[in-house]
Amino acid sequence: MASDAAAQIKEKLDIATFLKGYLELTPAGKNFKARCPFHSERTASFMVSPDRGTWHCFGACNTGGDIFTFLMRYENIEFFEALKILAEKAGVVLEHANSPEERQFGVLYDINLAAKIFFVEELTKAAPIKEYIRTRGLKEATAAEFELGYAPQAKADALTLFLIKKGYKVQDIERSGLTIRSDRGGYFDRFRGRVMFPILNHFGKTVGFTGRILPEFDNGATGKYVNSPETAIFKKSKLIYGFFKTKNAVREKNTAFLVEGQMDFLLAYQDGVKNVVATSGTALTAEHLTVLRKHAEKVILSFDADEAGESATERAIDLAIGFDFDVRIFLLPKDIKDPAEFVEKHPGRLMAAAEQAVSARTFYFAKYLKEGPEKKSIRALLGKAKRLPSSVERSDWVHALARETDLREQDLFAEMDALAVQQVAPVAEQSASPSASTEQIGEKRATRWELIAENLISAALATKNFDLVRESEAMLPPRYREAVPYLEMNTNAPTPELQTLVNAMALKSGLGLAYSTTDLVRELKREHLKGQQEGILTAIRRAERLGDEIALRKLMQEFDVLSRELHT
Ligand code: UTP
Ligand code: MN
Repeated sequence: MASDAAAQIKEKLDIATFLKGYLELTPAGKNFKARCPFHSERTASFMVSPDRGTWHCFGACNTGGDIFTFLMRYENIEFFEALKILAEKAGVVLEHANSPEERQFGVLYDINLAAKIFFVEELTKAAPIKEYIRTRGLKEATAAEFELGYAPQAKADALTLFLIKKGYKVQDIERSGLTIRSDRGGYFDRFRGRVMFPILNHFGKTVGFTGRILPEFDNGATGKYVNSPETAIFKKSKLIYGFFKTKNAVREKNTAFLVEGQMDFLLAYQDGVKNVVATSGTALTAEHLTVLRKHAEKVILSFDADEAGESATERAIDLAIGFDFDVRIFLLPKDIKDPAEFVEKHPGRLMAAAEQAVSARTFYFAKYLKEGPEKKSIRALLGKAKRLPSSVERSDWVHALARETDLREQDLFAEMDALAVQQVAPVAEQSASPSASTEQIGEKRATRWELIAENLISAALATKNFDLVRESEAMLPPRYREAVPYLEMNTNAPTPELQTLVNAMALKSGLGLAYSTTDLVRELKREHLKGQQEGILTAIRRAERLGDEIALRKLMQEFDVLSRELHT
């Protein structure tokens, strides 16, 4: 059972020790504090409890969990992937009689790995393909390091048969996307006549492929690049190609050099830009940026020089600005279409050239003021400025724009204020919309009522005096009212939901927030009254609809009483 294994793992691994690999933890009594890795903050509101094996962010996230949920969220992975990783770390053997879901994950990893080995082997037998790779500027060592392979053209089901012979069920192979079932019930390989680039997840497991067609087989009927479909282990909108290899360099340089596609990635890497990362088979998403932002503050965008590349650049700038990245744009010299070609024409120079990348402001000013200070372009620029999370930077843009256009700053500010913030357009083929991930992170925000209750209870926990809490019990939100006895007695709550709340509260007390309890009680009362008033308002609206005069009069009176109480 996965849950048994999970329990064993939690027993063996100390959550604080594990999280130290990710965060800077400072002791806070029995617990630890850190700056939350899931949102940007200056003061620590992220607490870790070794005793309970839990963490909780009391800041913008207002959410928490255990070692598993931390890893899943931090690395953007599924439970079963986290289970695999943590089991290895804890030395817990995962039994093969695991849940069907877990087996399904496992077999997908196995099939992708077997396929990678097959493709690599095929490449060793295919001299002309090796020659093609060489003509693309890739050295044998680079191709070997990134385990490039070849999907043969001659037989329609070479890989499928290979995998079946290895003992995999054809249904599982089909689930991996490596084989496709024809209308007549036969199976044929998805990838044929292509140079194969395995795609590794951020832990180094092969989860899918992208294949580039060989020019000689390209009749225009299929895409130049074909990718594995989305599977349980392959999520294009989350995965960053090559990141497993370049994560540390990205961290060390505090910068990611972001390109589109495998060839650009590999040639940049080979040319010495070890902090390169690439999207693969999909446009840049908010999820990619969420991952990158944990490792670097700066991102250098280097997309194709064509029109598609330029609009991708603009979209990427706007998205990345929202993540508070220092965004730079690497402008390719004229007549060079992409970073790969830059490396071919100017070997050994990419790193130095990338240092010359321009700021988002420079890029946008050049782009939009090219035709002079037209109203439309100025609006566009102010729209971009409005997206900046830092007001200082926003002002900088406006100052600069005033200088460039001879317009008055206050007019520009007024114009900017009047503009609506533009949303970054999702890209059609994207599998997950950017909002899906913000939803995941934003989750339930606590109401003001709940926050006040939390602060009051934390104060009680910190002072070990529950008198005030007991006196104001009737005014607490119901969940909190329920949690109080377990907190006071320090015993386990009867349901997991309640236990989660109890854990969170116990941790929050360690934040050492200093509030005046009298103020809190007064505020709690106000919020409680407001809540009651809301309830009455709803009832009033209903009574109005139904034309129930008697009820209406009674409700109005109650409303007035509450209003007076609220305003004393
Ligand atoms: P490009 O067409 O710019 O790739 O697409 P490239 O690296 O310049 O290609 P060649 O090999 O040098 O001609 C950029 C990326 O977009 C994705 C791939 O990930 C590719 O690397 N793509 C492109 C697809 O998924 N499908 C396609 O048909 C084309
Ligand atoms: Mn290109």
